[in-house]
Amino acid sequence: MKYIALALGLLALPAFAEGENVTIEPPAEVSREDGLAAWDRIYEVASHPRCANCHVGESQRPMWSGPSYGEPRPHGMNVHAGESRMGAEFVACATCHVERASLNDVPHAAPQVAMAWQLAPVEADWFGKSSTEICTQLRDPDLNGGRDFMDLASHLDHDLILHWAWNPGGGREPAPYDLQAHVNDVLAWGVAGYPCEGAPDLEIEEASE
Ligand code: HEC
Ligand code: HEC
Repeated sequence: MKYIALALGLLALPAFAEGENVTIEPPAEVSREDGLAAWDRIYEVASHPRCANCHVGESQRPMWSGPSYGEPRPHGMNVHAGESRMGAEFVACATCHVERASLNDVPHAAPQVAMAWQLAPVEADWFGKSSTEICTQLRDPDLNGGRDFMDLASHLDHDLILHWAWNPGGGREPAPYDLQAHVNDVLAWGVAGYPCEGAPDLEIEEASE
C-alpha cells in the first residue's frame, strides 16, 4: 500500500535526470565470489549517510549523520515524517526540501533536489543495519517494492535524489564510488544470484547452466 502511494507520488514528478545518464547492461555471467565483492561495495553505498539518513525505520525521523553533522542525531527542528513518510501530518518535507538547485552549495541549507523529499519506505530501513540485513531486504521483492535487479538498476537511474547523493555540495561527503559503478555492482550482484554473506543463497528457479 505504502509503496503504491509512494510510486504514484513520484510518478507525478519529472522523471528525467539532470547530469549524467546511466548505462544499464548486465554482465552475462558473474561468479558468486564476484557477486559478494559487488555486494560489499553496494553496502558501503547503502550504509553511507547520504543514503541511510533517509532510509530509516519506524522512528519516522530522518537522520542527520556524517562528518558535516558531527554526532549522528535525528533531524533537527522536530521534523517528523509520520506514516505518510513525507511529513503530511506535520510539516511537509517539501516545505524546505524543494528545487532551488543553487542552494545545494550552501553548508547547512536543506538539500534541494527536483524531486519531493520523503523517507524511504519503512521496509527499506538501512540506518545502522548490518550488511546481511540490508542484503536480505534488498533481494526480497516483498520488501523492496517488487523489484528485481534490473528494476533496482533503473530505479537508481531515474531517482534524482541518487544523483544528488553523489554530488551533494555544501561540504557534505558524497556517497562512495559513482552512480554508474553502483549500478554496475547492482547488476553484477543480481546476475550472481543475489548472494548475501551470512544468509543462505536463494533457490534459483531456472537453472542457469
Ligand atoms: C531523500 C530521501 C532519500 C535518500 C537520500 C535516498 N533514498 Fe533511496 N528511497 C527513497 C524513497 C522515497 C524510496 C522509495 C521510492 C520508490 O519506491 O519508488 C527509496 C527507495 C530506494 C530503493 C528501492 C528499493 C527499496 O528497497 O526500497 C533503492 C535501491 C534506494 N532507495 C537506494 C538508495 C541509495 C543507494 C541512496 C544513496 C545513494 C538512497 N537511496 C538515498 C528515499 C531516499
Ligand atoms: C524546516 C525545514 C525542514 C523541513 C520541514 C525538513 N527538513 Fe530535512 N533538512 C533541513 C535542513 C536545513 C537540513 C540540513 C541541515 C544541515 O546540513 O545542518 C536538512 C537535512 C536533511 C537530511 C540530511 C541530508 C544529508 O544526508 O545531508 C535528510 C535525510 C532530510 N533533511 C530529510 C527530511 C525529510 C524526510 C523531511 C520530511 C519528513 C524533512 N527533511 C523536512 C530542513 C528541513
